[in-house]
Amino acid sequence: MKSEYRHFTVKPVSGSVGALVEGIDISQDLDGDVIAEIRQAWLDHLVIFFHDQHLSDERLMTFGRYFGDLYLHPNLAKKGPHPEVIHVVKEPDATRVVGAEWHTDTGHVACPPMAAILHALETPPKGGDTLFANQYLAYETLSDGLKATLDGLKAVHDDSRVAGPNANKGRSTQTRDDVDWQPTVNAHPVVRTHPETGRKALYVNIASAHYFEGMTQAESAPLLRYLFDHATRPEFTCRFCWAPGSVAFWDNRCLKHIAVNDYHGHRRDMRRVQLAGDRPV
Ligand code: SIN
Repeated sequence: MKSEYRHFTVKPVSGSVGALVEGIDISQDLDGDVIAEIRQAWLDHLVIFFHDQHLSDERLMTFGRYFGDLYLHPNLAKKGPHPEVIHVVKEPDATRVVGAEWHTDTGHVACPPMAAILHALETPPKGGDTLFANQYLAYETLSDGLKATLDGLKAVHDDSRVAGPNANKGRSTQTRDDVDWQPTVNAHPVVRTHPETGRKALYVNIASAHYFEGMTQAESAPLLRYLFDHATRPEFTCRFCWAPGSVAFWDNRCLKHIAVNDYHGHRRDMRRVQLAGDRPV
């Protein structure tokens, strides 16, 4: 059952995930009961969107801190005075974007960030949307047989597809590629239990999960491929179209997302903070 909201309106944007929150200015100081209600909307809908919010970096950080500790990204280059605020930018001559494969953020670390808040400063005239996919539904729609197979299985994640040699070719937002960079490797459960809702969600990412613990890459590949495809079926998704001042606040514990790279020749400039998370269980 969905919650009732007293401080703003919440309009689902698809049949399975995502809602637009209207009637609130998140650039202002917010009361505890408003913050609790935003958190409830976020837990209910997995990703919530706002339009016409004009946030300085400081105000973006303040909004993030209402929901948790800010997380320092281990790879992405820091710009500006606040290392917590990542500039997610595509210049007109760039060919690649950050987040161009379906993923949850920073899945290679031991305790991946639980959330991200992305704020649009400049958007292309068309395109540059972000898609989100509900990973509770991805898990719940598996057969009982496959659920039993996945129970207790871990996938080994690393950051070799998103950092290190060649990671920066064609990309405006730079990531670590220095000689001291070494992949960070961590195994995470393929099915994780959300610490706040208690629901189970599928947790494998094409961007970071390479094989199942105790199996070879070749043995793991067919089932991983199936899970990657299943996890992003259209009926689990929504699509968000950005304008300057739009904000998306998503839950990495039960959601994947992908940035659509379809606006060549135009600039897109976003600011992102992440919120610290727990070790997946
Ligand atoms: C990301 O993966 O965090 C970037 C998403 C986007 O730029 O739309």
